[in-house]
Amino acid sequence: MLYIGIDLGTSAVKLLLMDEKGNIRNIVSREYPLYFPKAGWSEQDPLDWYEESIAGLKELLKEEDRSQVAGIGFGGQMHGLVMLDEEDRVIRPAILWNDGRTQEETEYLNQVIGEKKLADLTGNIAFAGFTAPKILWVREHEPDVFVKIHKIMLPKDYLCYRLSGAFVTDYSDASGMLLLDVENRCWSKEMMNICGIREEQLPSLCESHQVVGTIREDIAAALGLPETVKVVAGAGDNAAAAIGTGVTGDGMCNISLGTSGTLFVSSDGFIDPGNHALHSFCHADGKWHLMGCMLSAASCNKWWCEEVLRTDNYGQEQEQIDLGWEHHVYFLPYLMGERSPHNDPAARGAFIGMHMDSSREDLTRAVLEGVAFGLRDSLEIARKKGLQISRARLCGGGAKSPLWRKILASVLDLELEIPEVEEGPSMGGAILAAVGYGEYPDVAAAAEKLAHVSERVLPEPELAEMYDRKYEKWSRFYPALKDIFFE
Ligand code: XUL
Repeated sequence: MLYIGIDLGTSAVKLLLMDEKGNIRNIVSREYPLYFPKAGWSEQDPLDWYEESIAGLKELLKEEDRSQVAGIGFGGQMHGLVMLDEEDRVIRPAILWNDGRTQEETEYLNQVIGEKKLADLTGNIAFAGFTAPKILWVREHEPDVFVKIHKIMLPKDYLCYRLSGAFVTDYSDASGMLLLDVENRCWSKEMMNICGIREEQLPSLCESHQVVGTIREDIAAALGLPETVKVVAGAGDNAAAAIGTGVTGDGMCNISLGTSGTLFVSSDGFIDPGNHALHSFCHADGKWHLMGCMLSAASCNKWWCEEVLRTDNYGQEQEQIDLGWEHHVYFLPYLMGERSPHNDPAARGAFIGMHMDSSREDLTRAVLEGVAFGLRDSLEIARKKGLQISRARLCGGGAKSPLWRKILASVLDLELEIPEVEEGPSMGGAILAAVGYGEYPDVAAAAEKLAHVSERVLPEPELAEMYDRKYEKWSRFYPALKDIFFE
């Protein structure tokens, strides 16, 4: 049988076709626009997601025996607010995970409702990108939109709704709304009251591998698929990526170097995240995880290469970089503000320490290192919580760069395992579909069987020592600049 994984990303939708043994038959990617209507805002049109996904499915299946397709699963950008009216029309563009407009609402939640109460209700505090502060923002700034809201959903759930008619979400993605009681895996009535919404407006909660319906007849006909194709709920992209790279069970770690950068540590039980610099969410294997999220990771290098250097040849920019000497240019990767660990939508990017002989390569290197230092911030917090992490799987577009892998392994002082299939979230979606169809007894067993490591990157002791020194200095720049960013 064949399984489709659809990863609804921020820059593109990525679709993957896998057989029951985990062999990849085809991978397709289709881009759509990302809008920044005001500084710090980030929006997309859900109709673009749907149209590009349908076009992507046609391309994915062009040369395949479609009668063999048994299931579809999703991974998707988290936290985005999609709102439909009574007629199921999208009311306004979706407000995305890296949107920073909700500073006031986030402060209201953390300071007036209070961090302790939020943590008691949901396991987390408010971050600007989370869904609940966005609902409050719409209520305050677009009351005409707010009164029309009939259904609230997350990005991948919109796609699932259009493909199957099921109004559902899964626990991993729901965790990022700040409306879910993460420890007890149920909606928090008190959080709904705080946001002024009712449970009927929210999707039903499901496990990620749960079959939520079959593909709609008209879509099956248009794609030449059997009407029996099962649709499973899927997962937030980080949980889906962890499944796709085989990260389930206590203490396993996945790092994603995509538009965002995340450090994901899976756990058999709910973890109290302590100071809340990391998020405590449900995993897609029925368990939990801790996660640190940087809002701009591979997107920093994309911005630097495409917007500043005006090239899309990222590899060429890295060819001349020599890590064998200690350079002193630093980069703060906060191009969209920052989530973990600072929770500061006002933070901004910066180059620091240039000299008259600083070169193009030096600045490129600073960007790659700055992102690695940002991920180390999350790792340090996880280590301080006593989590033993000695290796991590690496996925996401940035993971394709051998230089970035080498920098990351030494900055984090971690052995990095490179999965055979780099497309973590779409692979995860396909694995969840295979479990839903009954091909495997559970998600952990399927992930272990289907996700393989193809290469290992070890930290280099001399580099690791240099990066310890540089990280210590880099860590002092944000506190020094914080107040200036805020003015
Ligand atoms: C996680 C997060 C990002 C998005 C990116 O909390 O906001 O990783 O899911 O797609």
